[in-house]
Amino acid sequence: MEIHVTLHGRDDLSGQIYRQLRSGIVEGRLVAGERLPSTRDLATQLGVSRKTTLDVFERLISEGYLRSRPGDGTFVAEGLIRVPTHPADSMKHQARMQAIWSSMPVQLSMPRHDVPYPFDFLGGVTDKRLFPFDTWRRCINHAVRLQARGRGQYRDPAGEQELRLAVSRYLAFSRAVASNWQDVIVTHGAQQAIDLIARVVLRPGDVVAVEEPGYPPARAAFAAAGAKIIGVSVDDQGLIVEQLPRKARLVYVTPSHQFPLGMPMSLERRVALLEWAQRQGAVIIEDDYDGEFRFEGRPVEPLKSLDRAGLVAYVGTFSKTIFPELRVGYVVPPASLNEAIQKAKQISDWHSCSLTQAALAKFMLDGDFAKHLRRMHKHYEDRRRTLVSSLQNELAEWFEPRIPAAGIHMTARLKGSLKEKHLTGGALDPSIGLYGISGFYMNRPTHEGLIFGYGGIESDDIGIAMKKIRMRLLKMA
Ligand SMILES: Cc1ncc(COP(=O)(O)O)c(C=O)c1O
Repeated sequence: MEIHVTLHGRDDLSGQIYRQLRSGIVEGRLVAGERLPSTRDLATQLGVSRKTTLDVFERLISEGYLRSRPGDGTFVAEGLIRVPTHPADSMKHQARMQAIWSSMPVQLSMPRHDVPYPFDFLGGVTDKRLFPFDTWRRCINHAVRLQARGRGQYRDPAGEQELRLAVSRYLAFSRAVASNWQDVIVTHGAQQAIDLIARVVLRPGDVVAVEEPGYPPARAAFAAAGAKIIGVSVDDQGLIVEQLPRKARLVYVTPSHQFPLGMPMSLERRVALLEWAQRQGAVIIEDDYDGEFRFEGRPVEPLKSLDRAGLVAYVGTFSKTIFPELRVGYVVPPASLNEAIQKAKQISDWHSCSLTQAALAKFMLDGDFAKHLRRMHKHYEDRRRTLVSSLQNELAEWFEPRIPAAGIHMTARLKGSLKEKHLTGGALDPSIGLYGISGFYMNRPTHEGLIFGYGGIESDDIGIAMKKIRMRLLKMA
């Protein structure tokens, strides 16, 4: 009998033959008692060496799929348990996901452009060329030396004590958030912190209030928890507290630098939000994602430090200060949620990589993080100045910038009949990456505009790009 085996190329011939014979037996195409061709005939049929087919048969015999009867031949073994196979269209019970996953956007915040634009204003990126990788390498080496000792074992889900301590000191000093190291839980970025809070606070159907416009990945985490999400408008003072839905169980805000518009939430609004949450028994997520780079004005007290009732979960990240690939963030939850969030973290991924945590702790405790922040502050300030000046002067006819006090992006409203589609996706100039703000709205955007990230583009390039934009816009008119 000729047996059907297809070989692709000449690599791993015995593996290819083995896998096909084995699946033929397991799936029932080769039935019990069926005689196989001799190893010599099979080798000739397939154009392989006899040794190859001998190896395959020996392996299948040793695993019990084939039985050899000396002098008679080799047969498919009797009594094997078969894997049931059904044609796809007769399947009644397919693996089914919850409906929410079919409407979840595929790429929440991935750049849509594989090859970066030469002049790219993508938000959410930092300049890795300016990161002190030599110092970082020393921190990693230090972490490796620490970790190379003893046995390999699971660690504390809340994170490495040294890093929790470093974060807690940093928060006290730079963000006016008082905490003990035990209050800090290390996560994979702010995103995981938001997801863990959602898991422990929300039941399906609960209402979550978010800023409109706001941060889509946070909305996605709440949607994944089965929540009903309601967008609440923001104005120059941030979230309009009177518009909060009465039954919200959770409110997600970005008070130090509203995402994406950039204004800080006023102290009055912060107090009003805390009072509202206290009346409702609602939890607040304060996402302080990029307040580190402050260029003007005094920082307003974080909600966390104004919170007397224990309702604020303060979330931070190293994605803007170091780079997003590091995937390190943290949450300082209200005491009442601390244990549950640690459990959720453990259930999700046990703990974040202890090597990265140890390296980051050293980077912070040695003062290198603070040095890096000071250096980046200067660069980003320079970029911001160039951008603001261009938008306010040579591009003032088309853009109305909203100048934020902090952060590494800003937005600008489009004037006249200019639309996002005329500018984004390389439409205005194929060398310039421009991005619209409409995607940050849950409902119909109130206006069109652009978000200019300046984390990944140098000052000189901003100047060149702005001139190019002006030329193109003049031609368009
Ligand atoms: C509002 C907001 N929160 C958080 C983050 C950072 O998230 P992660 O720490 O998961 O990278 C970003 C990044 O762009 C953001 O815009």
